[in-house]
Amino acid sequence: MRHLLDTRDLARTEALEILDVAEDMADTQRREVKKLPTLRGKTVVNLFFEDSTRTRISFEAAAKRLSADVINFSAKGSSVSKGESLQDTAQTLQAMGADAVVIRHGASGAPRTLATSGWITAGVVNAGDGTHAHPTQALLDAFTIRKRLFGDDSRGRGLDGIRVTIVGDILHSRVARSNVWLLHTLGAHVTLVAPPTLIPQDVSGWPVEVEYDLDRAIAAGPDALMMLRIQLERMNAAYFPTEREYSRRYGLDARRLDALPDGSIVLHPGPMNRGLEISAEAADSPRSTVLEQVANGVSVRMAVLYLLLAGARTDSEKEDLR
Ligand code: NCD
Repeated sequence: MRHLLDTRDLARTEALEILDVAEDMADTQRREVKKLPTLRGKTVVNLFFEDSTRTRISFEAAAKRLSADVINFSAKGSSVSKGESLQDTAQTLQAMGADAVVIRHGASGAPRTLATSGWITAGVVNAGDGTHAHPTQALLDAFTIRKRLFGDDSRGRGLDGIRVTIVGDILHSRVARSNVWLLHTLGAHVTLVAPPTLIPQDVSGWPVEVEYDLDRAIAAGPDALMMLRIQLERMNAAYFPTEREYSRRYGLDARRLDALPDGSIVLHPGPMNRGLEISAEAADSPRSTVLEQVANGVSVRMAVLYLLLAGARTDSEKEDLR
């Protein structure tokens, strides 16, 4: 793997390889000493033009546990706020010897521009670009679903026949877009639930069903329900009458939580608006995978950095992970 830009480009075998290596990484994270020497001497730059806590920290932890050197670059307080272009920033990183650049950017397509521009030779990982894609989030979500539904040793398995329902602000969500493509590639059935104003125009070309009624979607018996954050910061118009009304029709409250089939799980990428798209009962219930998603995120990002920077595994490297 040279770059990770979008889950739409991932073949099933590539996606499964990332999930399986993440499973190996998760095993190493149960040891007392969590650090592996694998990426010693490599430099990973976290280039964040948009606010983020968990994604940036997760990539930082992942790189450090593989013994890479990490440089955190956030646009606030940097020359970017003085008008430096993406090209100049990239060329600076290249001169510093970056081996991988993890980029989050408000503009959809910025990571691909960086990867294909010729400005840098580093591998590029998209950590979220505009409303377009967030591939490592989708991978950690798929990993979490697989682990919860099939147990720890589910290497090689896809999500064939699993029903995943994604609820909420689909329009502004790069998490939803990346999940749709990855879940489809892994064999899951995906249903999107939202008010019509929060369903994108181009959804007719996506491999999904669309439902406007959350209670009906829950009655259909999903294996996993993914609640999305209402992205007020990306909303420049009124997409629903009031927050109260949204919550009443599309929020996961205690009653809807009870109506879910036994064994089904609830995901949320964070940060959560408690009381808006998800109630405290749902967020803190045993069905909720919110904290597992955070922990799994580190393993998945370790796998991605490893596959990007260490290339195909030799047998002795495989032994090191055991
Ligand atoms: C998501 C994001 O930034 O796209 N969060 C995350 O990566 N943890 C989802 C969101 O902001 O709602």
